[in-house]
Amino acid sequence: MKPINVGLIGVGTVGGGTYAVLERNQEEITRRAGRGIVVSMIADRDLEKARQLAGEGVTVTADANEVVSNPDIDIVVELIGGYTVAKELILKAIDNGKHVITANKALLASHGTEIFAAAQKKGVMVAFEAAVAGGIPIIKALREGLTANRIEWIAGIINGTSNFILSEMRDKGLTFDTALKQAQKLGYAEADPTFDIEGIDAAHKLTIMASIAFGIPMQFEKVYTEGIAKLTREDIRYAEELGYRIKLLGLTRRTPKGIELRVHPTLIPTRRLIANVEGVMNAVVVKGDAVGATLYYGAGAGAEPTGSAVVADLVDVTRMHTADPKHRVPHLAFQPDLLSDTPILPMEEVETSYYLRLRVLDKPGALADIARVLADLGISIEAMVQKEPSEGEEQVDIIMLTHRAVEKNINTAIARIKKLPTMTGKVTRIRMEQLGGK
Ligand code: NDP
Ligand code: HSE
Repeated sequence: MKPINVGLIGVGTVGGGTYAVLERNQEEITRRAGRGIVVSMIADRDLEKARQLAGEGVTVTADANEVVSNPDIDIVVELIGGYTVAKELILKAIDNGKHVITANKALLASHGTEIFAAAQKKGVMVAFEAAVAGGIPIIKALREGLTANRIEWIAGIINGTSNFILSEMRDKGLTFDTALKQAQKLGYAEADPTFDIEGIDAAHKLTIMASIAFGIPMQFEKVYTEGIAKLTREDIRYAEELGYRIKLLGLTRRTPKGIELRVHPTLIPTRRLIANVEGVMNAVVVKGDAVGATLYYGAGAGAEPTGSAVVADLVDVTRMHTADPKHRVPHLAFQPDLLSDTPILPMEEVETSYYLRLRVLDKPGALADIARVLADLGISIEAMVQKEPSEGEEQVDIIMLTHRAVEKNINTAIARIKKLPTMTGKVTRIRMEQLGGK
C-alpha cells in the first residue's frame, strides 16, 4: 500500500525526537501500521535546523502554511506550541481534510472544544497522546483501556519540570533557580517556564484528562491552580520528617456536589508509589469503580519519550485513516452530543486535609490559642510537632497536620490565626492527600 504522507511542523525538542524515533524504528512501525509512514515535508522557522534533520526527498520550508495546504499531506503533526499560530494551522489543516496530531496541551485545554467540533464536522481525527504525561499512554488508557469504568478520581504528577526541580532541591540541595535552568537545558520546560512552575501546564493536562474521564467539556478556566514557586526547603524537610513527600499534583475527583479540579503542591505519604516518582518522571493514578486504582508511570517530558507518544498517534491515525468516521473512538471518549454538565466544585467547597506551618512566639498559651481557633471551626488536628527554638531565638515553628476539613473553614482559620498576638510570621498551608485505594 502507498505510504501515508506526514507533514511535520516544528522540529525542536519533540519534533526532533519524533523524527528520530520514526526513522530508527521505521521497519517495525510499518509492520504495525500496515503501511509506511513517511515524513515528506518539514516546516520550521529555523530552516537550517530543519534541513539538517530532513532525509533525502523531504521538502523543507519555513512557512508552515505550505504544509497544511499541501494536497499530498495526509497527516499534519503540529509541534510548535503556543495558541495563535498553532490554532490557525490546525484549523486550516482540518478544513483541508487532514488528520492532525499535536502535543499542544495549552491549545487543547483552551480551544479543544472548537478544534474537536471542527474535526468532527470534517470527519478527521485529532490525536493528542503526547499532550499529557509525555511518553505515558495515559490518553489511550483513559479513553479505551478503562472504558468499562465509572472513573472516580485521577491524581497525577503531570509536570516533569516541577517534579525535576523538587527532586533536585531535595536530593542534591540545588536551589530552585539552578534546578529550573537544568530542566530548561534538558528540553523539559515550556517556552515560558512559568507555565511549569506555576502549575498552569499541569492544569492544562488535568483539564484534558478530566474531560475524557468524566465526559465533561474542557474547563481550563475553572481549575484551581497553585505552583511550586513558594515552596521552601524547610517545608520539604518537615514533610519528610512527618513521613510525607511534597509533589505538585493534579487532582480531579467526582463528588456528590460536583467535580474537583485542582493543581497544587501536595503532601503524599512516602509509602505510596507515586510519592517516590522522581526527576522528570510522571505518574498518574486512576481509580475506576470496577478496576480499582491503576498506576501509569514513565518519562513525562523530553525528546524521544514524547516522540514515542506522537509516533503512537501516527500509527493509530494511519490504521484508522480509511475507517468510517462514525466507527472511530470519540476524541474525548464520550460521544460529543452526550457530554455531561456536572458542575466543577469551587475550591472553597473542596474537602481535603492540610499541613500548616506557623511561626509563633515561644510563649505559654500560643499553641492553645491556635488549637482553639481550629476547634471553633470543627477542624481536628491529626498530628503536631513543635520545633526547638534556635539558640537565642524566641520564635518557633509549629507544624500541624489536620484531618479532612472544608477549604473555606481552613481559610477562615488561617485568617483568624494570623491575627493572634503570638503569631510572628505567615501561615504556610499545603494540602495533603492519602491517595489510598478508596
Ligand atoms: P521547541 O521550542 O523545542 O520546538 C518548537 C519548534 O517549532 C522550534 O524549532 C521553533 O522554532 C519552531 N516554531 C515555532 N513557531 C513556528 C512557526 N510559526 N513556524 C514554524 N516553526 C515554528 O518546543 P518543544 O518541542 O519542547 O514543544 C513543542 C510542543 O510540544 C509544545 O506544544 C509543548 O507544550 C509540547 N510538549 C513538549 C514536551 C517537551 O518535553 N518539550 C513534552 C510534551 C509536550 P524557534 O526555535 O525558531 O522558535
Ligand atoms: N513542560 C512539560 C513538563 C513538558 O515539564 O512536563 C511535557 O508536557
